[in-house]
Amino acid sequence: MVSENMQAALNKQMNAELYSAYLYLAMAAYYEDSDLPGFANWMIAQAQEEMSHAMKFYDYLVQRGSRVMLDAIEKPQSQWKSALAVSEHVLEHEKLVTSMINNLVDIAVEEKDHATNNFLQYFVAEQVEEEESAGGVLQKVKLANNSPTGLLLVDSELGKRVFTPSTPEE
Ligand code: FEO
Repeated sequence: MVSENMQAALNKQMNAELYSAYLYLAMAAYYEDSDLPGFANWMIAQAQEEMSHAMKFYDYLVQRGSRVMLDAIEKPQSQWKSALAVSEHVLEHEKLVTSMINNLVDIAVEEKDHATNNFLQYFVAEQVEEEESAGGVLQKVKLANNSPTGLLLVDSELGKRVFTPSTPEE
C-alpha cells in the first residue's frame, strides 16, 4: 500500500492523463473539421497513448492495494487558430505533464517510497520521448510555414502513425 498522500497524488495524475487523452481527442476533432486527417490520426494515436498512461496508474494503484478514485475530467479547449497553435499547445502540455511527473518523483523520494519511485521512472523516460515527438511535429509544422502544400505533406506523414500498446513489462 502507498501512503494516503501518495494515493491522492497518483489518482490526481491518472486524472491528468485522462484529461490529456481528452484534450488530444479534442485536437483530433479540430483537425477532422479542418480537413487534415493525418494530423487527426496523429492526435488520436496520442489520445490512445494517454489512455494507456492512465491505465498504468490505475493498475499500479490496484497492485498496491490502494484505492482508485475517479474524479471529473476537465472540459478541454475545442478550437485553435491553426495547426501551428495546436502543435505549440501539445508541446506546452507535455512540458506541463513532465513537471507533474517530476513532482510525483519528489514526493516518492521524500516518502522513501522506492517502489513508487521505480514505477514512476517509466514516466520519466516516457516524457523525454513525448517532448521529443511533440517537438518534432511542431518543427515540421513550422517548416511548412502555413503553406497548404507543406501542411499536406506533413499531414500525409502524420497519417502513418499507428498506436502500439506497450507490453505489461514496459
Ligand atoms: Fe501521458 Fe503525453 O504524457
